[in-house]
Amino acid sequence: MALYSDKVMDHFMNPRNVGYIENADGIGEIGNAKCGDIMKIYLKIENDVIVDAKFETFGCGSAIASSSMATEMIIGKPVSEALELTNKAVVEALDGLPAHKVHCSVLAEEAIKNALKDYFDRNGIPYDPEQFKETDHDELHAQVHGE
Ligand code: FES
Repeated sequence: MALYSDKVMDHFMNPRNVGYIENADGIGEIGNAKCGDIMKIYLKIENDVIVDAKFETFGCGSAIASSSMATEMIIGKPVSEALELTNKAVVEALDGLPAHKVHCSVLAEEAIKNALKDYFDRNGIPYDPEQFKETDHDELHAQVHGE
C-alpha cells in the first residue's frame, strides 16, 4: 500500500483555501517547536457561520493536506460545529495518515480552535477555557517519533 492516500496526495499537490483573509474575524496560529512546522488559519464568520477559511502552512505535506481538508470541512458550518472538529475526523476524511504523521493533523485542529478562540475573545463571547487546552506537542512528537 502506498504510504499516502490519493486524497492526501491530492490535497498536498492542490491544496484548497491557501492564503489569508484580510480583516479576518478570527486568526489562529500554532507551531511545533520540534519539527518547526507552523500553521496559521484565518476565519471569516457571519451570523455565527464560517463563511470562509484560509490557511498558511510552513510545514510537511501531511500538515498541508490536513489544513486543506480541515478548512474544507468547516466552511459553511456553524461555529459550534467547527469547534467540534477533531484531528481524527480530518485524518478519516483524508483516508488516513501514516502513524508518525498523525500529529500533523493535530496542528489543523488546534489552529482552527485557536482561531475560534480569537473570534470569541474579540467579540466578548463567553467560552469554557477547558475546550482550548493545547496538546503537549513535544510529548506527542516524542510519542510518534520515539524521541
Ligand atoms: Fe508535520 Fe511535525 S512533521 S507537523
